[in-house]
Amino acid sequence: MPDLSVRIGSLTLKNPVLVASGTFGFGADYARLYDPSRLGGVVTKAITLEPRRGNPPPRLWETPCGLLNSIGLENPGVEAFLREELPRMRALGTAVVVNVWGETPEEYAELAQRLSVPGVDAIELNLSCPNVPGKGLIGSSPAGTARVVRLCRRATGLDLWAKLPPEGDVLAAARAAEGEGATAISAANTFRGLAIDIRTGRPVFANVTGGLSGPAIKPLALRLVYELSRAVRIPVIGIGGIAGWEDALEFIMAGAHAVQVGTGNFIDPLCAPKLVRGLEKFLAERGMESWEEVRGCAHRGGIPGAA
Ligand code: FUM
Repeated sequence: MPDLSVRIGSLTLKNPVLVASGTFGFGADYARLYDPSRLGGVVTKAITLEPRRGNPPPRLWETPCGLLNSIGLENPGVEAFLREELPRMRALGTAVVVNVWGETPEEYAELAQRLSVPGVDAIELNLSCPNVPGKGLIGSSPAGTARVVRLCRRATGLDLWAKLPPEGDVLAAARAAEGEGATAISAANTFRGLAIDIRTGRPVFANVTGGLSGPAIKPLALRLVYELSRAVRIPVIGIGGIAGWEDALEFIMAGAHAVQVGTGNFIDPLCAPKLVRGLEKFLAERGMESWEEVRGCAHRGGIPGAA
């Protein structure tokens, strides 16, 4: 059997497949459908210091090959998360990565400190929520990214993953995160998009724009991961339109150490475990023992010996 495990900073994941923030809740619903211990990890919905009710409806809008969302970071707040959700998540049998969002760099640091408890394996800094007007996209600025990561690095010994927006100078922001001690780059969050209700002539979302995910953004995210994996030395975690094992493999070939399945979970709730099986089969059929030959091979002229 091939060894599917991957090392991300100080963490070893049993395989490179995680589920993305906001698409898996805290795992309880999916645990009725399959055993989440088959996954490399679960990333929580963004947690904030105080509970948030989120944006008014509608919050989701389907497009021909993607999904626009404007959730507005609805979550129970860090205290309720620690009290009610984390104990259940610890029983999932897989890595727990807590996605956090703060209004200020200091809030991120407080969240990082409060979440430095047994059962939290890493913190994903959400520097890229497109749905909080004027406040969400701090990761589009290298200086803003650096400040958040620097304060969080002082606040916690846990691994810090910087989740960046696909807009702005992403490579510079990633280098800034790496320079301040981030242990991985999650690339990327959704692309800002717009839908207009032609019956009213108004944008469908109260905040006008939403974040686009799904198959439409896969080539865009893949290009980012290809460039990022060259720009930084820390692992890159690919996110964007991954719905099948072939998509995940493309991201790994572009240089990703791991991937996160987001909208794919809504298309097929069993998407993530199927993806693990598909990747395992791919390695086994080619007699490959680990990811070494495959990861980043698109930068090196492809799979050695492939026609
Ligand atoms: O609106 C939202 O809660 C989206 C969050 C995100 O994309 O990070």
